[in-house]
Amino acid sequence: MIQPNKSLQAYNTFGVASTAEFFVEIFDRVELAAFFKAHTTEQITVLGGGSNILLTQNLSGIVLKISLTGIEVVEESPQEVILEVQAGESWHDVVSYCLDQDYGGIENLALIPGQMGTAPMQNIGAYGVELKDVFDSCVAMNRETQEFEYFDREACAFGYRESVFKQKLKNKYVICSVRLRLTKTNHRLTLDYGSIKDVLSQSGIDNPSIRDVAAAVISIRQSKLPDPKILGNSGSFFKNPIIAKKTADQLKVNYPQLPTYDTGDGQQKIPAAWLIETAGYKGFRQGDAGVHKHQALVLVNYGQATGAEIWRLAQSIQDKVEKEFGIRLMPEVNIY
Ligand code: EPU
Repeated sequence: MIQPNKSLQAYNTFGVASTAEFFVEIFDRVELAAFFKAHTTEQITVLGGGSNILLTQNLSGIVLKISLTGIEVVEESPQEVILEVQAGESWHDVVSYCLDQDYGGIENLALIPGQMGTAPMQNIGAYGVELKDVFDSCVAMNRETQEFEYFDREACAFGYRESVFKQKLKNKYVICSVRLRLTKTNHRLTLDYGSIKDVLSQSGIDNPSIRDVAAAVISIRQSKLPDPKILGNSGSFFKNPIIAKKTADQLKVNYPQLPTYDTGDGQQKIPAAWLIETAGYKGFRQGDAGVHKHQALVLVNYGQATGAEIWRLAQSIQDKVEKEFGIRLMPEVNIY
């Protein structure tokens, strides 16, 4: 059922006010294909969990909310399982399901907001693990032909917060389901990032299970990242910039404290949070738009901020950081 003039406030985790000219929620593939076939001239904006968007205006045309559900084991061996998850499933519910079944591989990605279908779009990642590490394949509908096409990992061209669906195929496909390859035994734990090991040892755990790792990740996230249900936000607002080693070395002359991470290909990843904090923005607030006080990479809505106000704050951060460090931060969040 198509609804006119639908408020999108509850459909974006920033919680900003915005209206869709028309809104429709789709629950299965057949309905999805039929909808695109019947609406070839209208502008259609596909919405997942709304956790990686900033709405700076009202949206004209049709906003289509993906609500395909289902989690199913499609292949299994004594060591591994392939799980097929429909695009509308909440990502954290998938993590919880895997913890319950003792399927390993996504425990470091606990508590990331959003839906399964949008996870490959930007190759979600946290605490040393990215979706691509467990990704087997996905099925996506070609918006123009309404055909369902298969994409393996290579076809998705995953990179840091990147995939073919954000680049060459932007707005051309709707991801319908994703297959994850997970371990049933001998889980390969990733414990090296940040304070995971410290949190585990503080709890007296020296032989952690995937549940222990997820619990550690959840406690780290809760200590730094605001819960969107309480304080509107979209996680990291910008991507961490990747710059040439030479440029990083030059910056270190003036900023010896600059943290750098080797990307393995002669480049350096710089924490955008450090740049923003050093530029003086951590905890900054302008009206109801602000920079989170515990994590400078997260912009927040204290209540009544508009998307345009949050975007203005983001732009002033981009300008200041560029002036001070010569690096232009790029949004990780999709701006509408
Ligand atoms: N830092 C600061 N000030 C801050 C926060 C961090 O200087 O206020 C510096 C510190 O040097 C710290 C470094 O930034 O060591 C890295 O911080 P953190 O571990 O919190 O991670 P991040 O690089 O800011 C990335 C992801 C997050 C993910 C975490 C943990 C991006 C854009 N963000 O953030 O992902 O949870 O690592 O793996 O890559 C998201 O994508 O929405 C997201 C939250």
